Parts: sequence; structure tokens; C-alpha cells
Amino acid sequence: MKMFPLEIGTTCDMHVHLRDGEMCDLVTPTVKEGGINVAYIMPNLQPPITTVEQVKIYKAKLEKLAPSTKFLMSFYLNDTITPALIDEAKDYIHGIKVYPAGVTTNSSGGVDPTDFTPFYPVFEKMQQYGLVLNIHGETPFKKGSNTTVMTAEPEFLPVLEVVHAKFPTLKIVLEHCTTEAAIKLVKKIDSPYVSATITIHHLSLTIDDVVGSPLNFCKPVAKTPYDQKALKEAVLSGDSRFFLGTDSAPHVACNKNKLLGCAAGVYVSKYTLQILAQFWKENNGDWSNFIKFVSTNGLTFYGLKANELPKEKCYLIEKQIKIEEKISSGDITVIPFKAGETLDFDIEW
Ligand code: NCD
Ligand code: DOR
Ligand code: ZN
Ligand code: ZN
Repeated sequence: MKMFPLEIGTTCDMHVHLRDGEMCDLVTPTVKEGGINVAYIMPNLQPPITTVEQVKIYKAKLEKLAPSTKFLMSFYLNDTITPALIDEAKDYIHGIKVYPAGVTTNSSGGVDPTDFTPFYPVFEKMQQYGLVLNIHGETPFKKGSNTTVMTAEPEFLPVLEVVHAKFPTLKIVLEHCTTEAAIKLVKKIDSPYVSATITIHHLSLTIDDVVGSPLNFCKPVAKTPYDQKALKEAVLSGDSRFFLGTDSAPHVACNKNKLLGCAAGVYVSKYTLQILAQFWKENNGDWSNFIKFVSTNGLTFYGLKANELPKEKCYLIEKQIKIEEKISSGDITVIPFKAGETLDFDIEW
């Protein structure tokens, strides 16, 4: 049977950073070039997105830059987020992102994840309205503790169990999970309300690819080959609890090239499905599970109805392409993940 062109339909990337300013102008249109027409947008701007007004302005700006892409908006959890604000915001956002303070880019205003009790009234409201709690699951680094980039995620996982036990019908996404421990926990919890996103870079990297290559540095960092194997199995299986969230997080090249203090984040948006399809082919993946991972699993978890979604369909085609060495506009240059590599797939709308 002829597999390609493969009709994928509506596609979703449930974790994307589109930034502000010139960077936003540059990367926002590239989401669709990477085969995605529904994108869940991260709120870690400066200042973070915490009001309905900010959501409206940011969403309108994104829609102007990419009119045929559907943007799902989120809030950044901090102490300005109250139950009354959730009442006001419920029709403008799809979820709220939790950044443990200090673990990653623009997270200094985040929360102390060892004690979520101050936010329980907010979680209660979110549960009531079906809003999603998006968790960056890493324990913050404290002076004197033994937490490292390798252990921060496993150490965080008990918090997920506590929140789920307290709010069993609150939709929770463990974002960009990187460890076998995380995959096992999501499977063990085995609830339609708890799922996880997996990035493309975490499927193709291990910690050895990160050490010495700042381009591959992101938070959480890629882990061991055992962890990578667990991620691969989860996505290739088509398991409905796992779906695509690329965590595409552009930084200007000069911030990725710093000898000290390299910015965390891998930019992938312009080549999202092209790179993922290459991974699928190299792992002999079942293409119907590809469609689950990039489309149905995520759309179903978020409860998105056909009438709220773009009608355009994405097709995967066999065609050799080369990932650009850089994408630029004005003073801004971003180096894509796997820059310069050749792929066997492209997308069409
Ligand atoms: C800045 C941006 O792109 O807007 N980063 C950010 O919001 N975290 C600059 C950068 O890319 O480093
Ligand atoms: O590597 C990362 N970069 N991880 C995150 O969680 C945030 C992101 C960013 O905003 O740059
Ligand atoms: Zn994150
Ligand atoms: Zn992110």
C-alpha cells in the first residue's frame, strides 16, 4: 500500500514558546511550516502572562502573524492568579503553566513546588472548568541539596502524585518529560486526566549529546539511553496519554553560543513534523501511531471540538529537504535543531 502522501489532518504541538518582539515575528509563522496548525503557547514572557488583557493582546498579535494557525493560550502561575481571575479568564485560556522558581528561562517569578497548597483554590476552579495544569516537573536547585539536572525530574514526581490525588479530575500535563520514571508514573496513575508531552529533541538526544553542544542544551536536559528508550516506546506505541509538545524555545544564536551561561532551549518549530517523521521512519514506527502522537491524542486530551479547529489538513510527503543552518530576520538569528542535516520528509497543506 502506498503510505505517502500521508493525510494527518489537524496537527497539534501542545508546548511552544513564541516569545515577544522581533523573535516572535520571526518564529510564529514557522509553526505552520513545520506542519502544525494548533499550538499551545507558553506564557513565560517578560513580564509573564497573567491577565486576560495580556492574553487578548498576545493572541491577536500571533493571529496577525499566522492567521491560519489556532493558538491556545495559557497563564503563568504566580500569586496574582486567583480563583476570581480564573472565573474571568476561563474562556480565554486553556490552561496554566507551573514553573518551579529558578529552574529555567524566565522562571524566577515561578512557584515553590514543594508546597502547592496556596494554589489549591485556583486548582479547584481549574478542575471545575476543565482547564489544564501544565507542569514543568523539576525540583529547583537549592544550595546544599544534592539535586542535579539528572535528578531534578524524578525528585519532582511525588508532587504530581499529590496534586492528582487531591484533584483527581483536574487535567494535568507533565510537560516535556525526559525520564523512564516519569513515563512509568504516568502509566501507573492511569487516569484520563493525567498525561505527558514529549519533545522531539528528547527522543533523539541523550545527556552525552548535550555536554559540549550548547545547541542541544534545554531544560530539562536529555537523560540516559534507558530514559530515551522509555520515551521512544511511549510515543511509538500510540498510547493516548502521550502527545507532542515540542518545547520549541528559540534563543538568539549569541545566547546559545555563550561560553558561560548558555541559554536553555532548542528551536524546532520550522521542521517539527519533518524531523519527527524521520525519527518515525528510522524506528520503523507505525504511521497510524504518528497521527495519534501529533494529532488525536493531544486534541482529545484538551477536549477540542472539531468546530473549534482549523479545517486545513496537513500531509506528510516524501521529499528530501535540508534543515537550514540558521533562520534570520533583521538582527535576530536562530539556529534550528539538527541544523544542516538532510531529511526524507516534508509537509504540505
Ligand atoms: C528573548 C526573546 O527571544 O524574546 N528570550 C526570552 O524571551 N526568553 C531573547 C532570547 O531569545 O534569548
Ligand atoms: O529549555 C527550555 N527553554 N526549557 C524551558 O522550560 C523553557 C524554555 C525557554 O523558555 O527557553
Ligand atoms: Zn518547561
Ligand atoms: Zn517550555
